[in-house]
Amino acid sequence: MPSLKIAPSLLSANFARLSEQIKLVEKGKADWIHLDIMDGHFVPNITFGPLVVRSIRAITKLPLDAHLMVENPDRFIDDFKNAGVNHITVHVEGCMHLHRTIQKIKKHGLKAGVSLNPATPAISLREILPFVDQVLVMSVNPGFGGQTFIRQSLRKIQEIGMMADAIDKKIDISVDGGIDESNASEIVAAGATVLVAGYTIFTKKNIAQAVRNLRKAATIK
Ligand code: DX5
Ligand code: ZN
Repeated sequence: MPSLKIAPSLLSANFARLSEQIKLVEKGKADWIHLDIMDGHFVPNITFGPLVVRSIRAITKLPLDAHLMVENPDRFIDDFKNAGVNHITVHVEGCMHLHRTIQKIKKHGLKAGVSLNPATPAISLREILPFVDQVLVMSVNPGFGGQTFIRQSLRKIQEIGMMADAIDKKIDISVDGGIDESNASEIVAAGATVLVAGYTIFTKKNIAQAVRNLRKAATIK
């Protein structure tokens, strides 16, 4: 099983002080930086695009994990690749030709992920699972930080783990939304290998310590 990764989501960061805040999560030994890209169509919110990502790329060596909450993400894969991301995750609900989209991401030499909204069942991954590096389970409805973890996600994480084992496929299972020190360990126990967390990290006074605390909470049985 891959070791646990902590991926702070910049959605709850102070965008006027991004560089400072990224340095703080680096100090706390974050593994990835999670980038929430929203288009105002797929989700009812707008965030940032490749231009901002390019500036982020210039100030950190951490892997950039782009989560595209956009309709028809194929249009933007080249742009995010050129902006310097390392992983691109798209939603099964946002892709008409998911297999083609995943191939396109992989052709660029990037890690490819698929994400499921809370109402989308694990079984919808069956045909695409052999082709992906990562599954991102949305444990809140995407669009906003600081929402409450949806507990049914735990069962879905387990199901995805079993589906991957059944085909002997090593993937990361990322879980995104409503994660904090109180639920991190049960999410990992269910099979998560990546914890994405925004609110619980960037709203703390000591951001570096918040990353360490989340990792510690996640590994306590
Ligand atoms: C929600 C995003 C998340 C989110 C994480 O649409 O995909 O990455 O910001 O949220 P919290 O704040 O719940 O950790
Ligand atoms: Zn996200």
